[in-house]
Amino acid sequence: MKLFLTVTILALAVTGSALADAAAGKAVYTANCEKCHGADGAGKAVIAKMLNVTMKPLASAEVKALSDATMTKDITTGVGKMKPVKLTDAQVKDVIAYVRSLK
Ligand code: HEC
Repeated sequence: MKLFLTVTILALAVTGSALADAAAGKAVYTANCEKCHGADGAGKAVIAKMLNVTMKPLASAEVKALSDATMTKDITTGVGKMKPVKLTDAQVKDVIAYVRSLK
């Protein structure tokens, strides 16, 4: 029984990492998000000023509290002053994993 559980947990861990890859997400982030959100996710003052909006730091507890479903929706359909970003489903998963790794 213990062995079965261990194998199941390992299998889940492997599947999970195949689904979302924070390292691949970093490349997606650099190419598609960094110009507005900055390398550390703090948000670029010039963009916030131009759009007249307060950008929540992506590493903040508030953004971390967003579900994957909400973040996916924000990225693919836009949120507030942020326009939708065109990405594949895999890229969205990866970039969310990367955003969640920001400190
Ligand atoms: C053209 C600039 C721009 C780009 C590119 C951009 N964002 Fe944003 N993003 C914004 C702005 C501005 C906001 C704040 C929106 C508001 O509150 O009106 C925002 C908000 C967010 C939020 C917070 C949503 C919330 O509920 O408060 C997340 C998460 C986010 N962006 C992720 C991303 C990711 C991931 C990418 C790249 C795939 C990305 N953004 C690309 C400008 C941008």
